[in-house]
Amino acid sequence: MEYHAAFDYIRDLLNLPEVVETRHHMHHSIPKHDHLTRSVRHAYYLSRLLRADTRTCVRAALLHDINSRAGTLTTHGYIAARWAAAKGEDPAVCAAIESHMYPLGPTPTSREAWVLALADKAASLGDIKQFLAGLIDGRSLEERRRLKETDPYYRHRSRRRLFRRWRTRYTP
Ligand SMILES: [Fe+2]
Ligand SMILES: [Fe+2]
Repeated sequence: MEYHAAFDYIRDLLNLPEVVETRHHMHHSIPKHDHLTRSVRHAYYLSRLLRADTRTCVRAALLHDINSRAGTLTTHGYIAARWAAAKGEDPAVCAAIESHMYPLGPTPTSREAWVLALADKAASLGDIKQFLAGLIDGRSLEERRRLKETDPYYRHRSRRRLFRRWRTRYTP
């Protein structure tokens, strides 16, 4: 099977609002959507290499960081897995999502879960490379500024910071 054919496995997920909105969320200083699709690509190739179920791997890869802001470094896998389960994903997909932060979270318990844990790490390196490459022509910083505006987490954070500043300045 060719890589582009693996997209048939995730076609129904690509238009989910929670997936689409990741284009405007920041992750490793780039759009989270880029991280997710890069994870899908690595998950596809690793699933072939490690003889894991490709469908499970690529679906888990696309969804593994949804709502990650609601958790911490160690708990967000569980949050994304619970969200995927509520959307009707297979238990195998959810289990892989839950342990993707290994060794910071639970240990993967299936071939597919190992594929995702590795694919996520490989994708994260690619994210950093993308950011560094874009620093040369200023694209990265411009994008980062845009994402800070559109990512609700950053909007809240900067509002909180403003409030703190206001409070320390004006409270007697
Ligand atoms: Fe993650
Ligand atoms: Fe990730």
